[in-house]
Amino acid sequence: MTMHSPYDMVTKSYVAVRPQYPDQWFSKLSALTSCHALAWDAGTGNGQAAVAEHYERVIATDISEPMLKQGIPRPRVQYLHTPSSLSEDEVVAMLRGENSVDLITVATAIHWFDIPKLYSIAKWSSASPEGRLREFYRLYSKPGVQYAFEEYRNLPFAFESVGLGCEGQPVELEMPREMSCETFLRVQSTSSAVATAKQNGVYLLTDDVVKEFKTAWGGSELVRTVKFKVFMLAGSVKA
Ligand SMILES: C[S@@+](CC[C@H](N)C(=O)[O-])C[C@H]1O[C@@H](n2cnc3c(N)ncnc32)[C@H](O)[C@@H]1O
Repeated sequence: MTMHSPYDMVTKSYVAVRPQYPDQWFSKLSALTSCHALAWDAGTGNGQAAVAEHYERVIATDISEPMLKQGIPRPRVQYLHTPSSLSEDEVVAMLRGENSVDLITVATAIHWFDIPKLYSIAKWSSASPEGRLREFYRLYSKPGVQYAFEEYRNLPFAFESVGLGCEGQPVELEMPREMSCETFLRVQSTSSAVATAKQNGVYLLTDDVVKEFKTAWGGSELVRTVKFKVFMLAGSVKA
């Protein structure tokens, strides 16, 4: 049975309101690989983390077809659907076969994956001998997702350190963004928790909750700086 993504229901608002990652993060990650032929952005969503400017080709995959339909069109980025029913071999084949990928990014998505399967694909598909795995992701509220709650400190990460976080010690970053309470609430409405609850008939952002937020914020139009916490881990495939 094909598993659907909790993001299927919120694709349009996700694209409209989720803050974009700073460009310099992509430059930093791409500077860690000597080849720039192919990158894989796993759990790409609308492709905002696809490092298109830095690699000749980017394969951007997601379990959610509705999300992929919102993919930012870019000549170097190819969006491909990867339902959970695909085997490891099938995913590796989609990634142009073994030893082909120079960089892998998994942004705000690793906690949704079957991690041993993802790592195994990473090892088969990483370009060798200079194979690289780079993972980065940011944290928003994700109730029920253990690794995110633990700020990815307990995420198994069986890759060689390249000086940008390592197992148990992600690099902590911040993404400050100016926004009104109205926008902040729209961002929250794209979270998997809100979407999943809605699918089950529970509406989390009720009028009362919204009112409480607006009062605490100081008015719905007041612009405040919201600091999104980010945790980054990068590593290379062990020889
Ligand atoms: C929070 S979104 C992050 C999207 C994008 N990487 C970003 O940073 O904006 C998580 C994405 O992971 C996708 N996803 C969840 N489970 C997945 C899986 N097992 N395989 C591939 N994608 C998955 C969801 O459909 C969703 O698009």
